[in-house]
Amino acid sequence: MKKIIIANWKMNPRSSKDALRLAGGVARGLKNIKGVDVVLAPPFVFLSAIRHTPYAVRSKVKLGAQDVFWENLPAGGGAYTGEVSALQLKALGVRMVIVGHSERRAMGETSEVIRKKVLAALSAGLKAVLCVGEAERKSGEVFPKIVRDELLGGIRKIKKSLLKNLIIAYEPVWAIGSGKADTPKNVYEMAILIRRELYRALGKRAASKIPVLYGGSVDGKNAAEFVAKGAVDGFLVGGASLSSGKFVRLVKAVANL
Ligand code: PGA
Repeated sequence: MKKIIIANWKMNPRSSKDALRLAGGVARGLKNIKGVDVVLAPPFVFLSAIRHTPYAVRSKVKLGAQDVFWENLPAGGGAYTGEVSALQLKALGVRMVIVGHSERRAMGETSEVIRKKVLAALSAGLKAVLCVGEAERKSGEVFPKIVRDELLGGIRKIKKSLLKNLIIAYEPVWAIGSGKADTPKNVYEMAILIRRELYRALGKRAASKIPVLYGGSVDGKNAAEFVAKGAVDGFLVGGASLSSGKFVRLVKAVANL
């Protein structure tokens, strides 16, 4: 499976100028890279600028968004102040949407809202990156219940044919932004358990097409080991995606594996 590396810029940087500089640095740094799908997920306000950038960013990196409105609106618009629809993102050239990030769950996003967002994104032909992860690991609990609930809750009642565009990002909450990544051994075990759960829910054929990524303090130093020993198909990267140098190093460390 082709590896996927998604840069989650979160609420950064401050200006369009900075966003273009960052995107341009990534695009230039990855000019000759093959075998990895690189996705930049900036805040909504920078999507258009990056999409229409003068220096071929588009051909090197794909565009992602960090959120989407949950209502499926056939017309692509409606009376929902402050929201952005899946069809609007699609029309702008966005390919994938991050859904259910723990930072959004912490702001009160429920499992049902997340499920509807996954459905809205997939129905519009976007890829949906469903984030799951436990806040703490109880001793003796092999597969944390919260991870199973987030996983199955996010795909409940969604047609199998749509789920071919689903991506799972396993992100233990304590590893996000802490500088303390999970171990490759734990990530390996969790990736296997997540895949097994998907097999059970969807059957082997559908489940085997769903990439499982890891996120949580990934950087250029630990990324290669996660791919080699962690059985993951790529990464969701926060902090290390805010410097083009660091991010390019990370992608390069994985691209040649
Ligand atoms: P981090 O963030 O790489 O800064 O830990 C990952 C994420 O939140 O997706």
